[in-house]
Amino acid sequence: MTYYVTTPIYYVNGDPHLGHAYSTMAADVLARHMRQRGEDVFFLTGTDEHGEPIELAAEKEGITPQELADRNAPKFEQMARRIEATNDFFIRTSDPRHEAKVAEIMQRVHDNGHVYEGTYEGWYCPRCADFKTERELGPGHTCPIHEIPLEREREENWFFRLSSFQQQLERLYEERPDFVVPDFRRNEAVSFIKRGLEDVSLSRARLKWGMHLPWDPSQRMYVWFDALLNYVTALSFAREGEDLTERYWPADYHVLAKDILKFHAVIWPALLFAAGYEPPKRMVIHGYLLMGERKMSKSLGNVLDPDQVIDRYGADALRYYCFREVSFGQDGSVSPAGFEARYESELANDYGNLASRSLAMIDRYRDGKVPDAAIDESLAASFDGVGQRVRDLLDHAELSQALDEIWQLVRRLNQYVEESRPWDLAKDESQAGRLDLVLYNLAEGLRVTTLLLLPYLPETAERLLGALQEPARGLAELGSRGGGQRVEKLPPLFPKLDQPA
Ligand code: MSP
Repeated sequence: MTYYVTTPIYYVNGDPHLGHAYSTMAADVLARHMRQRGEDVFFLTGTDEHGEPIELAAEKEGITPQELADRNAPKFEQMARRIEATNDFFIRTSDPRHEAKVAEIMQRVHDNGHVYEGTYEGWYCPRCADFKTERELGPGHTCPIHEIPLEREREENWFFRLSSFQQQLERLYEERPDFVVPDFRRNEAVSFIKRGLEDVSLSRARLKWGMHLPWDPSQRMYVWFDALLNYVTALSFAREGEDLTERYWPADYHVLAKDILKFHAVIWPALLFAAGYEPPKRMVIHGYLLMGERKMSKSLGNVLDPDQVIDRYGADALRYYCFREVSFGQDGSVSPAGFEARYESELANDYGNLASRSLAMIDRYRDGKVPDAAIDESLAASFDGVGQRVRDLLDHAELSQALDEIWQLVRRLNQYVEESRPWDLAKDESQAGRLDLVLYNLAEGLRVTTLLLLPYLPETAERLLGALQEPARGLAELGSRGGGQRVEKLPPLFPKLDQPA
């Protein structure tokens, strides 16, 4: 089976920050997990390089929008690598291959009769590149996201007949209860649709940076149309000489935050219908990472730099912290103090210590060789069915709940060490069989737990599975394996850092 997962494509008007990294890490957890299940995965991320937000930022710096994009897009590519994202392709919307495909698809939308010329008048936020309805405005005609006053704009442009997809969208949501997860976001999308859809502006006459409409070059395409289409266009050129569209479309999951719900949950499926494509299978809407009470963003100037965290603690710790601290789907605060607390108590103590001491005891008491023994019944209750539970949760993109499910195994194994006291067993020859059982179960428990943790802690899992002499990475290998293999001791997986940065 194929599995196609995407992130939003990020605006290149600023540097990447933890909020962007968060969506990419989430998509990466899903991609890695599905690869472990043997699926044929395609994982896409990239940058959104057209439109007013980029034009304005470039103007401010006195450079061209393309220069700005060429300078900033590599930073987003670099961020993806730093957080260990395993994306199969990185799309940039200024890529002529994307533009050619967008022109082809939009021409089809035009030829199918889904556009018309009209006059637009309304409140426009240049930073969102979005027209706001009266209902969406903040106090005093401001943008609720950027908190800037909005201008009322009036111009002749082209419209997309969103309203004609009213019934088709209602039916889509009725037929597919999990089209948008979590549920409360689905309800938001449904109530937006039920209030009655209005046609949306598809082009701007005044915009200088963006694609020309193929049938009316005097107008530029509203950036959201060109941006959303990236999910489809990328498949046509991501692999040299190959068109992957048939193979991977419709996408299995779009990962995004609530700020762009309307575009993805309402406009996007309608645009796909208009162009003759199937809608995506599902999308997952996550919340905001907040610093204190506010959304993290470049413009609000309260950015926690993922680079600094990674330099000091590694990408795994950052990935773990984000999904552990904030329940995926909800908004939640992140902070250096919160990060350090979890790093210390959960990564270094719970997991890192469990691994170090288990390996050290096998080394000391059994010369590094995992004894061959049976599964301890007292552990079975925690481990039985855990693989299936994690699969089910991740099928619903419940990233924090799945991680919690796995972390309970870490806790249970620590408790097992305390209960069984291998250091006492080692002092008593008559307990040799019992010690074999405990050491085998620790190695086996760590192996299973670490295979499940791999999508969250890829680098750590690689090291630990290597030390455990476990060659498999797939979830088919969760079932118990025998002993007999020689394991290696490891330096601490999450070293304690006493010095403040
Ligand atoms: N370019 C559009 C998206 C087009 S997708 C076809 C855009 N870009 S953006 O750079 O503003 O990125 C928005 C996305 O970045 C959010 O939907 C979310 O995925 C991620 N995040 C940005 N800040 C975030 C937080 N503070 N917290 C969580 N996610 C955040 O919108």
